[in-house]
Amino acid sequence: MTKTTITITQPDDWHLHLRDGEALNSVAPFTARQFARAIIMPNLNPPVTTVVRAVEYLDQILAAVDGSDFEPLMTLYLTDNTPASEVIAARKSCFIKGLKLYPAGATTNSDAGVTDIRNCDAALEEMQKSGLPLLIHGETTDPQVDVFDREKVFIDKTLQPLTQRFPELKIVFEHITTREAADFVLQSGDNVAATITPQHLLFNRNALFQNGLQPHNYCLPVLKRDIHQHALLEVIRSGNNKFFLGTDSAPHAKNKKEGACGCAGIFSAHAAIEIYATIFEQQDALDKLEAFASFNGPDFYGLPRNNKTITLNKEDWTIPDEYPLGDETLVPFLAGQTVCWKLSETI
Ligand code: NCD
Ligand code: ZN
Repeated sequence: MTKTTITITQPDDWHLHLRDGEALNSVAPFTARQFARAIIMPNLNPPVTTVVRAVEYLDQILAAVDGSDFEPLMTLYLTDNTPASEVIAARKSCFIKGLKLYPAGATTNSDAGVTDIRNCDAALEEMQKSGLPLLIHGETTDPQVDVFDREKVFIDKTLQPLTQRFPELKIVFEHITTREAADFVLQSGDNVAATITPQHLLFNRNALFQNGLQPHNYCLPVLKRDIHQHALLEVIRSGNNKFFLGTDSAPHAKNKKEGACGCAGIFSAHAAIEIYATIFEQQDALDKLEAFASFNGPDFYGLPRNNKTITLNKEDWTIPDEYPLGDETLVPFLAGQTVCWKLSETI
C-alpha cells in the first residue's frame, strides 16, 4: 500500500550555506522550519577562519532564526596557515564541529583555500588526535583537468594519499557526485563518510542543457553523467550508514545566477526534506529515509540523535518561482515544479 504520511525523527542538514547579512535573514528560517541542526559552511567573504569569527557568525545565525530551537553547528575554513592552536581552540569551543577544506579556487569564495594539503599537516595532526572531522570539497583545481573528472582526480591525487598519511582522521567527503567517490567511501574505514545533495540524486548533466542553458541547475561539483547519478541512487537504496543528508543549499541572487558568468550554487532549503522524500519514494526506499536524514549524520559526528519528529503528508504543492533574498530575489531548486510530499508538523 502506498503511504500517505511519514513520521521520522527530525533530520539535520550536514552541509549548508547560510551566507550573512540580509541574505542570512532571508534563508535561515527555511532550514530552521525542518532541520534541528545544520553544519554551517564557512565560505563567507572573508572566510570564517578563527573561533572568534565563528562565535560572531553563530550569533548572527541565532538572531536570524530567533524563536526557533535550531542549532547551528559551526565549521572553520582551513587555510595554508591554520595553526594547530586554532584546532585546539575549536575543539574546546564545543560548538565547532569540523574544519572545511576548499582547494584554493575550487568554488564560490574559495580564494583563501588550501594551495597544498601538506601545508596543513600541523592542523590535520591535531584534528586526527582530537577527532574533529575534516569536511572536504573534493575537486582538483588543475585547470587542465576536465571539469567532469575533477572529483576523480582529487581522489587519486589528494584524498587517497591523505587518508594514508592520516589513517585515523575523520573525513566527510562532501556532496559526492561520482561512482568513484561512492566506491572510495565504501572501501574506506568507518572514519570516512559522505554527504549527498538532492540535485545529484535527482539530475544528471543533461539537466544543465535541457531546452537551453539552465543556470539554476549549475552547482559545484557540477552534475555528472547518468551512470554516476545511478551509483548515488544505488547507495541510498542500500541504506549504507556512511552516507547522509547534506543539501549544499547555496543561495545566490537571481541576477548573479543568470548573468553572463553565472555563479555556482543551488538553493534547496525551501523544500529540502520534501524533495529527499520524493526521491526516496521514487526509489522505493522510503524506509531508508530516516537513517539517511536523521541517524547516520549524528552517529558519524558523535552527536545525539534528535528527540523530536517531523511528519510529511502526501500532498502536491507547487514550488514558488522566486523567494526574496535580502533586497534581491532567488530562484529556488525546482522552481514552478510540483513536489508530492509536504512537511506538516514538528513535535
Ligand atoms: C557553494 C556556494 O555557493 O557557496 N556553491 C556550490 O555550487 N555548491 C560552494 C560549494 O559548496 O562548492
Ligand atoms: Zn557547499
